[in-house]
Amino acid sequence: MSTLIKNGIIATASDVFKGDLYIESGIIKEIGLKLEKSRCHVIDAEGKYIIPGGVDVHTHLNLDVGIGVSNDDFYTGTVAAACGGTTTIVDHMGFGPKGCNLHHQVKVYHEYAKNNAVIDYGFHGVIQHINDDILKEMKDIIEIEGIPSFKIYLTYDFKLSDEEAIKTLLRLKKLGGLTTVHAENHYMIKYLKKKFIDNRKIQPIYHALSRPEESEAEAISRIIHLAYVSDNAPLYIVHLSTKLGLDYIKRAQETGCNVYAETCPQYLLLDEEKYNLPNNEGLKYIMSPPIRKKHNQKALWKGIRDGNIQVIATDHCPFSFYREKQMGREDFTKCPNGIPGVETRIPLIFSEGVMKNRIDINKFVEVTSTAPSKIFGLYPKKGTIAVGSDADIVLIDTKKEVVLTKKILHENVDYTCYEGMKLVGYPILTMVRGKIVVKNHDFVGEKGYGEFICRRKNIS
Ligand code: URP
Ligand code: ZN
Ligand code: ZN
Repeated sequence: MSTLIKNGIIATASDVFKGDLYIESGIIKEIGLKLEKSRCHVIDAEGKYIIPGGVDVHTHLNLDVGIGVSNDDFYTGTVAAACGGTTTIVDHMGFGPKGCNLHHQVKVYHEYAKNNAVIDYGFHGVIQHINDDILKEMKDIIEIEGIPSFKIYLTYDFKLSDEEAIKTLLRLKKLGGLTTVHAENHYMIKYLKKKFIDNRKIQPIYHALSRPEESEAEAISRIIHLAYVSDNAPLYIVHLSTKLGLDYIKRAQETGCNVYAETCPQYLLLDEEKYNLPNNEGLKYIMSPPIRKKHNQKALWKGIRDGNIQVIATDHCPFSFYREKQMGREDFTKCPNGIPGVETRIPLIFSEGVMKNRIDINKFVEVTSTAPSKIFGLYPKKGTIAVGSDADIVLIDTKKEVVLTKKILHENVDYTCYEGMKLVGYPILTMVRGKIVVKNHDFVGEKGYGEFICRRKNIS
């Protein structure tokens, strides 16, 4: 089926212009003015933005964290993503049984996603330990499996030592891979958690206080320096939450370090006061790093405008408030970490970013689609509107006003962190490789339509 989308406002990371798009066999075939085609499906996009589908490079579907499994699987999670205007995700493969190799997890995640995902997807490797076998295995994971990015942690039981981090950075640099990092200082957090729990400081706010801004900033500064001495290996900092961390990233970028940064809507729009909500509602916001004091938000928006933060992703990792999150009622350390967000990213950043003039439409497309596609080896198949690219298209109605509430969302969880928030502008149509999968909030796609994307090596 071929499709003609007419009279929209086409926005890419570099242009905005009025025009038509002609799509055939899932690919953008022509971009122009007043295109005339016979025997095709015509969509009137008068007054609507036509943007490349969102690319969310930080999700955790089916993630087993030991005390629970994140509530969205590859079907529900990708339906929610599509309904929010995201057409590609790159999901983090979980750890698997202790000591298992990387291929084990690749197999498991293909099983999870195949026949379930409704949009296209890739995987990130996740490192739970480092030894010669794992370092060796990385070559095939990158070159044969099409997975050129790997996440390491500097905290939790599976944290890497500095020595292991250097080995990983050097190896991935050599193979054309990208090291992504969850940067928090493990021992600062361990000390503070114990201090609070020993003093019966068990409420959700102590989750934030036990992971202070310094714990993120120190770990960011350390990994940046480790990457620099490791042949200036490319480095991607996930879920940046602080101005302090951003200051280190900015300085590193200015002095030639090969470092990218990602933040998420929760760090741009929510603040630490949420942890003090009555009735333990603060548990809803337990994630790591935690949401911060308000002054950080301003700095992060500026970091996006200035180009120091390249990507807005979600870290989607939902747990039910009434079930799993309640494990933290008597002790915040027992609450599984993570929040939902895959469906609300594009609407929130469009409304709070573009409509409130914090960023322009080009920057919006860049941080939600184009830059993540380039950094993670998806571009130009994904991440832009160009002849030859996949027809992953989203229409945004700038006049549509929506009050965010759990009831209208498709994420398989019982709350949203943005309940009651008024948005202006909302995705009204989502297309993946030329096929309409969402129309006016309703999922109309097909289970299993999503394809695995064998990603290319890192560009830097
Ligand atoms: O709290 C979070 N962010 N949970 C998901 C796992 C991670 O560290 O990204
Ligand atoms: Zn993380
Ligand atoms: Zn994460």
